Amino acid sequence: MNDARLSRLREQMPELLLKTDPADLEFYGRDWTRRWQPAPLAIAFPADSAAVQAIVRWAVREQVGLVPSGGRTGLSGGAVAARGELVLSFERMNRVLDFDPVDRTLTVQPGLVLESLQAAALQHGLIYPVDFAARGSCSIGGNIATNAGGIRVIRYGNTREWIAGLKVVTGSGELLDLNRGLIKNSSGYDLRQLLIGAEGTLGLVVEATVRLTDPPPPSNVMVFAVPAMEALMEVFAACRRRLSLSAFEFFTDRALEHVLRHGAQNPFAQISPFYLVAEFDAGSEAHEAAALGVFEECLDQGWVNDGVISQSSAQAAALWRLREGITESLAALKPYKNDISVRISQIPRFMQAMREIFEREYPDYDIVWFGHIGDGNLHINVIRPDGVGDEAFIAECERVTALLSATLARFGGSISAEHGIGLVKKKYLEGTRSAAEIAVMRGIRQVLDPHGILNPGKVFDVEA
Ligand code: MLT
Ligand code: ZN
Repeated sequence: MNDARLSRLREQMPELLLKTDPADLEFYGRDWTRRWQPAPLAIAFPADSAAVQAIVRWAVREQVGLVPSGGRTGLSGGAVAARGELVLSFERMNRVLDFDPVDRTLTVQPGLVLESLQAAALQHGLIYPVDFAARGSCSIGGNIATNAGGIRVIRYGNTREWIAGLKVVTGSGELLDLNRGLIKNSSGYDLRQLLIGAEGTLGLVVEATVRLTDPPPPSNVMVFAVPAMEALMEVFAACRRRLSLSAFEFFTDRALEHVLRHGAQNPFAQISPFYLVAEFDAGSEAHEAAALGVFEECLDQGWVNDGVISQSSAQAAALWRLREGITESLAALKPYKNDISVRISQIPRFMQAMREIFEREYPDYDIVWFGHIGDGNLHINVIRPDGVGDEAFIAECERVTALLSATLARFGGSISAEHGIGLVKKKYLEGTRSAAEIAVMRGIRQVLDPHGILNPGKVFDVEA
């Protein structure tokens, strides 16, 4: 540790755990995007918010960028440190601080893993309902930074709906205590909401108070095999009419092939081009009759040609694996990820437009579609064809994203639904947000991070 700036940090904070081993720099300097070569200055592990404030003040003095780091499961490069930044890992700030049974809130530190937060809620007979496949590794701080969505947004909304209070350290080292758990607070700008989804560029979350709710009634899972793209939203409408949905997800035959190769069980005798996963309230005869009714309606209309409904929680988990196992089944192939959204009313036309583009421009590419179709959010993963090198592949994927971005602009959609902009989608921000909006964002960033040390280079570049 012979960097003078680090020596000064060590002198000022002798109790601070700092790591500089090459293996640690490599490990903490990257996220799931695996695209940038990690090159952080060091990794700091603050134990409390006072330590975070002290690190921020050091970073301002030394002009060192800070990259906040949780589980690093992000898919947009938001937690990448490739330019000599100090990674600020929240691993040691991972405790549940308080449970309030009247407010029905948990107050937690940002490094708490989502699954542990969910378990802590259950201990009190309540749930924290934001949920997705990375639950075992991602942290609540990262969820807040990206306004994470996941599989139950259709019922519960995104992370921002569940954050009752936030303590954050700004880029000047000030501690802000935002909203303090209030349900109603009409006292000017809601800075808490501004911080949520800001990808660590406006402040570092050092404490969050999250709302909890009652556990849902029992549920069943039904997977439909769908022969034509045009039928997807018909099935959605039928499900919405007759069932109380808690999730409505989608994947294609391409995704199924990958997930089956990765060990999932295929419940269908024949392959269909599209699949839908519906999770809905169950447990009574009326619920069962409604589920059967939906299936029969879809079959009669020719919208589905097969379907399977869970008869046990083990079966439900096996069916969920078909959808939730997709990301993991693709990981070794290092796919290029897109995470777009349009209004759900626009999904059929948007999908048709993109299908035509892909058929014309990329007939030989393995493009894997899946996602949260009930929220208008699709994941479009591009797999590298054999024999294509890293650079050529990225160049081609950038072209795919440019085509997506242009189409999204026509449909009023977004280039990032739930993964964030990070480094990966920075170039395409202008397709989704107007110049006037970006100018406002720049102004806000300037106020909260006047020295340009908070996750520099993420979301958009700040001119020197
Ligand atoms: C998912 O919904 O499984 C992830 O957000 C998506 C991905 O891996 O692209
Ligand atoms: Zn997703």
